[in-house]
Amino acid sequence: MDSLEELLNTPIDKLPHVDKIGRWTLIKLEIINEYAKAYSLILNKQPRISHVYIDAFSGAGIAIARESGKNVLGSALNAIRIVPPFKKYYFIDTDEDKVQFLREATKNRTDVEVIHGDSNKILIDSVFSEVGYTEYKRGLCVFDPYGLHLHWQTVQAAAENKAIEIFLNFPLMDMNMNVLWRKNPEGQDPLQIERMNRFWGDESWRDEVYDTIGDLFGYPSKVFDANKKIAEAFRKRLNEVAGFEFVPEPIVMRNTSGGELYYLFFASHNKTGEKIAKHVLKKYRELGRN
Ligand SMILES: C[S@@+](CC[C@H](N)C(=O)[O-])C[C@H]1O[C@@H](n2cnc3c(N)ncnc32)[C@H](O)[C@@H]1O
Repeated sequence: MDSLEELLNTPIDKLPHVDKIGRWTLIKLEIINEYAKAYSLILNKQPRISHVYIDAFSGAGIAIARESGKNVLGSALNAIRIVPPFKKYYFIDTDEDKVQFLREATKNRTDVEVIHGDSNKILIDSVFSEVGYTEYKRGLCVFDPYGLHLHWQTVQAAAENKAIEIFLNFPLMDMNMNVLWRKNPEGQDPLQIERMNRFWGDESWRDEVYDTIGDLFGYPSKVFDANKKIAEAFRKRLNEVAGFEFVPEPIVMRNTSGGELYYLFFASHNKTGEKIAKHVLKKYRELGRN
């Protein structure tokens, strides 16, 4: 039994604070894993090119499936099992216990670096410079925050690098709970607006979500189908503002009652990457409906 197999059998009270995850989060993990496998296989065949995996909100590398009650590997530990492997793995998280746990779980791997801190700073200060188009170094970066913790400038830096492809979990639930109120958008907490602006890059999200006519009391009101509209506007931003050449339609992830929680985006400068991602997203969109 390898050490990851042992982790899968570790009793829950011996794990750090881990998330209980539902069906759609399991699907998200499968999508990322399936794409990462294809990516690593293709780049491994190109002798001049090396490729790294970056998990910017890595968590502890383990979670518990809500339905079965069983331990499952998270995105980070799934990635280190991929064959052929990436040249190097960077895992970043702000939670010290999760970082410690992940360091222990990967202690025999010299190709893994687990970094404690804010990925918005760490990626720009150090990790992204390990990837570069003209240096033949490619990177797959996963942005999987719970909420509005990712900053637009980090996404922009990934796009400007030209050799980084991303998966990005668009945190609709946090937005709807804390920022995109149906009524009285003027009454929102300024700190929540600031979080949204940092995530979006400016205030233009307002134009997507609220009409300008106003209700009976003169307040702007939320437009019909606001989730879809804001997700489509973000897709356009990844493409036109950040500058990713290819940004396919994202996949929507729901709770057990069918409510929309997240949109999982993929963005890349690479046509083959887009083709594979589209195929994987389509497959799981159809599977997820059943
Ligand atoms: C949804 S979880 C990640 C789950 C992970 N992808 C998996 O499959 O197990 C989000 C993680 O982001 C971490 N986090 C929150 N803000 C962060 C930041 N600014 N930089 C790095 N990690 C952060 C949290 O501690 C949490 O572990």
